[in-house]
Amino acid sequence: LRATSRRFSSTTKAQSILNVAVDQEITGSLKQQLAKLFEASLRATVPDELDVEPLIAACNPRFGDYQCNNAMSLWTKIKGKGTEFTGPQPIGRAIMNNIPASEIIESCTIAGPGFVNVVLSKQWIAKSIQKMLIDGIETWAPKLPIKRAVVDFSSPNIAKEMHVGHLRSTIIGDTLARMLEFSNVEVLRRNHVGDWGTQFGMLIEYLFEMFPNWEVTSDQAIEDLEAFYKASKQRFDYDPIFKERAQRAVVSLQGGEEKYRKAWAQICEISRRGYERVYHRLGVQLEEKGESFYNPYIPRAIEALSNAGLVEESEGARVIFIEGKNIPLIVVKRDGGYNYASTDLAALQYRLKEEKAEWIIYVTDVGQREHFEMVFTAARRVGWLPTDDNLYPKASHVGFGLVLGEDGRRFRTRSTEVVKLVDLLDEAKTRCKAALIERGKADEWTEEELEKTAEAVGYGAVKYADLKNNRLTNYTFNFDQMLNDKGNTAVYLLYAHARICSIIRKSGKDIEELKKTGKIELAHPDERVLGLHLLQFAEIVEEACTNLLPNVLCEYLYNLSEYFTKFYSNCQVVGSAEETSRLLLCEATAVVMRNCFNLLGIVPVYRI
Ligand code: ARG
Repeated sequence: LRATSRRFSSTTKAQSILNVAVDQEITGSLKQQLAKLFEASLRATVPDELDVEPLIAACNPRFGDYQCNNAMSLWTKIKGKGTEFTGPQPIGRAIMNNIPASEIIESCTIAGPGFVNVVLSKQWIAKSIQKMLIDGIETWAPKLPIKRAVVDFSSPNIAKEMHVGHLRSTIIGDTLARMLEFSNVEVLRRNHVGDWGTQFGMLIEYLFEMFPNWEVTSDQAIEDLEAFYKASKQRFDYDPIFKERAQRAVVSLQGGEEKYRKAWAQICEISRRGYERVYHRLGVQLEEKGESFYNPYIPRAIEALSNAGLVEESEGARVIFIEGKNIPLIVVKRDGGYNYASTDLAALQYRLKEEKAEWIIYVTDVGQREHFEMVFTAARRVGWLPTDDNLYPKASHVGFGLVLGEDGRRFRTRSTEVVKLVDLLDEAKTRCKAALIERGKADEWTEEELEKTAEAVGYGAVKYADLKNNRLTNYTFNFDQMLNDKGNTAVYLLYAHARICSIIRKSGKDIEELKKTGKIELAHPDERVLGLHLLQFAEIVEEACTNLLPNVLCEYLYNLSEYFTKFYSNCQVVGSAEETSRLLLCEATAVVMRNCFNLLGIVPVYRI
């Protein structure tokens, strides 16, 4: 170990690091910028070969704004190995002394076993907010270690029910995609629809029986298809002759027989139209690359897995045994056909190899966790993914819990599922519209305004009610709760945002002009709290992305509105000496709220 006392006094090295690291790129989240400072300090404090990452976290406001917690763990690493440090406290002190000079930090203190508490500079917070107002919130985008990701979400099964789980997958997947996009990651939004499999045999056979030449004459809606699918399944289960015909139909379809291919394509098209109605209302965009897309890539995937010695014969099927799992992953069925897992393996390889994705994210209910664990393990063993699952390229399963009905049981929509999902959204909108009319808005607004606001609030409420919970927990679907204008709901938050917009409007000031000429001062403690929270937006997005947890952003948004309320009730805005600064703070709050909405897939409203 190098003599620490020498490095102790010399901060020149750190200073030069600062010049490179901070002057050249004052970007990334607040936490990332602090981490850069501490990285420089750590490098000046301990030997390079320790290669420590700065551990920075927001801390209890009694101690400061942020804390660096490296001293304790460093001490356990260097203790008894000839270091001149006598304990964690002196290490903490050295870390503190070696922090490069920076306008970010106002003061530091040492606490407990070497924690370095940081108080940020108020001027710097104010300056950063002001800069964002002028240069745009994009300048606050966090930095993620990847350039391209696949988000595989929604993914309903054609001709089978599209259930509430698919709605959850759609909402959660869309938010994750938006947050990654905001962080400058290129996102390939993939709808991995179940458009292949034996169910098509029975459905097509049944349709042909009911309507000869169905493939050219059909003008069905998805509701009809679902009813036919159910009927065909029943028939399949009790009529052995039909069953045989259905199985032959599968062969014809997979063999590419024209009539069958056409009928299949037609069924897919009808379903697609049904899904589009849901996506359109939700404002979600997806590119369909369904299971059938990966068919041509399955053989090469199985071959790679076989060549790596992973595939074994078991009871006539070809399988991969995965350590710790009771059942193996079947990759070729007994009849030689492929299945869900074969497709997923081929898709994973395709996404890595052809699409060059560095992160592949799958959004499905928790019930599929095992499946993905097995697929990912196989991919690691064949060398498609690194064995260390902290490294990129990476595959992650984003599981979520159930949606429950009022009766505490699984929330079920009846037979015509897709339409019911649309109905659900429509009902949210209808209720919002009624509430607006009740508040007299029909006299003030045009019909179009009324419609647009009801949609924004209604659909926003459905989304927010889903996203605000940790995705792994089950939640109860309850219109009254999600449409309440008090409490942690989208309605409350959207109104809060609209109210801020109206404060600015009613001030009569030209906010664009103020942005250029005015200055933010965070004089009052409630202003400082609000300002710091605004600045933490980027690191919250970063955290939500890294841990794939949209609820983190919801919590941030709710707290933001709480801090704003506190600020607004304790600090006079219009007509005060601090009017300009406070109006700018209102504007910054509105901008950040809007961007939270945007990332959550919620359309902001400006009037209420
Ligand atoms: N279609 C599947 C289902 O409804 C979800 C597909 C998820 N994506 C995947 N690559 N397996 O359960």
